[in-house]
Amino acid sequence: MTAEAAPAALFSVPDNCFALTVTAIQHYTDRLFRFETDRPDSFRFRSGEFVMIGLPGAKPVWRAYSVASPAWDERLEFFSIKVPDGPLTSELQKIQPGDTVWMRRKPTGTLVLDALLPGKRLYMISTGTGIAPFASLMRDPETYEKFEQVILTHSCRLKAELAYGFELTEQVLGHEFLGELAEGKLVHYATTTREPSAHMGRVTDLIENGRLFTDLGVPPLDPAVDRIMVCGSMAMNMDVKAIAQARGFTEGSNADPGQFVIERAFVG
Ligand code: A2P
Repeated sequence: MTAEAAPAALFSVPDNCFALTVTAIQHYTDRLFRFETDRPDSFRFRSGEFVMIGLPGAKPVWRAYSVASPAWDERLEFFSIKVPDGPLTSELQKIQPGDTVWMRRKPTGTLVLDALLPGKRLYMISTGTGIAPFASLMRDPETYEKFEQVILTHSCRLKAELAYGFELTEQVLGHEFLGELAEGKLVHYATTTREPSAHMGRVTDLIENGRLFTDLGVPPLDPAVDRIMVCGSMAMNMDVKAIAQARGFTEGSNADPGQFVIERAFVG
């Protein structure tokens, strides 16, 4: 137990929360880490949804986190930024196995398959920690049942920040059951914007100049067959939204499914 988490037992778990036990942590860079917890039996969610996370305390600071693990998984996984003076993540980044994290009981969100109309090709467009809801969806068999092709784009400033996406893709394709479903369907397209790498540039530019489609060997965006999920910085979300709308895509929601859905990636 860390010094920070030791007093957890002093605080009684609020009624609307689960107390999760941390089981694993992996640090990728000085700005990014991933952690896993146990999963309460009664916690149900749809792949792609988010929850509120906080550390035990008298007045916890709550932040939204997409559940990065799929709905079928018995663990919960989260992918987080570390903000040096962030009210939550400056402490959360220090958690150790055995520590307690609080999670509000109610999941929510629009990056769910139910909010999209049927289509052939699913684009999951992310920047930074915005990959988290797609880490869930790309590990859900339903994604491959519903779509013939699943394209995950992940853009970050630096190569090291792309590691989680590469790990996930390898994990899915190497998985006993998911691998068979995802084989030939799942495509991972990673770009950097501030360091040389195999694919460079903002995803918005790569869509506008057609490079993304040439590289992938697919036709340009078409609302008749393509579906888009977007999760990243507010600026990226707004730019992709404008691109999608200019091409005739309509925004979906849980109540009214459409051709694209959007959610901002949350920072601590
Ligand atoms: P850039 O380096 O050109 O700003 P951040 O670390 O600031 O959250 O950004 C994550 C990634 O999102 C970076 O690669 C960044 O590119 C990119 N990005 C930021 N704003 C936009 C935008 N409006 N459209 C597309 N990509 C963006």
